[in-house]
Amino acid sequence: MATIFPSWLGGYELNKKVTNPNIIVGDFTYYSGYYHDKHFEDHCVRYLMGDHSTKAVWESGIFGEVDKLIIGKFCSIASGAIFMLAGNQGHRHDWISSYPFEVSEFGDKVKAGFARAGDTVIGNDVWIGSECVIMPGVHIGDGSVIGARAVVTKDVPPYSIVVGNPGRVVKSRFNGSEVAKLMEMKWWDWPLSMLKANMDVMCSNDVEAMYQRYLSSSEAN
Ligand SMILES: CC(C)(COP(=O)(O)OP(=O)(O)OC[C@H]1O[C@@H](n2cnc3c(N)ncnc32)[C@H](O)[C@@H]1OP(=O)(O)O)[C@@H](O)C(=O)NCCC(=O)NCCS
Repeated sequence: MATIFPSWLGGYELNKKVTNPNIIVGDFTYYSGYYHDKHFEDHCVRYLMGDHSTKAVWESGIFGEVDKLIIGKFCSIASGAIFMLAGNQGHRHDWISSYPFEVSEFGDKVKAGFARAGDTVIGNDVWIGSECVIMPGVHIGDGSVIGARAVVTKDVPPYSIVVGNPGRVVKSRFNGSEVAKLMEMKWWDWPLSMLKANMDVMCSNDVEAMYQRYLSSSEAN
């Protein structure tokens, strides 16, 4: 029986729970993990220094800067999604061996194998489907949707829908001029009072109506 998430209807806001300083999350982004019954940091974020199992070694500073996981506001993350931060884990497949040799056993000529892949950056209003895998260093644009079990290996433009393995863009949520308007409005940065006042159009597909509201509020200010 699940103990962390009482039902698949619920979840928690990540920035109220996350403890790893290398995970940065915007307001309202949540994880709903009923089917995997583990916390976001224990199931979804893989091989990222600074979690409870590596806190001491991370705080010692011997690893220097590591890749970060940066997630915007208003993202929905479904059960079992995986963010692979493998650039931090130290296997070098460009060296003679990908084996992570230890100084204690193989001597002081061993070199540290950690190589950064770059921060993984998820935009705002991204819906991450169940059990998908986001590979190291990928950037996912605002408004995108990642289908269930997709494996995302490349950057994703804003408002794309991505499915499959390797992940491919199958369509856009809106047409080009609508995407441009959404990117200009950046509703996720609006004050809560303005969002509340516009919830009727937010809960519709009428980008033009939303844009007109945005223009009139910009004129008013
Ligand atoms: C990505 C998703 C949103 C697309 O939904 P949609 O816009 O209705 O898209 P469609 O069903 O029209 O599918 C478009 C194409 O992608 C394919 N496709 C859709 N979802 C897919 C998936 N998860 N994996 C592989 N292919 C997928 C469809 O077969 C279709 O292919 P075709 O054009 O060759 O026929 C949806 O399929 C999905 O995966 N949602 C996530 C569900 C989830 O994880 N929920 C968790 C709880 S919040």
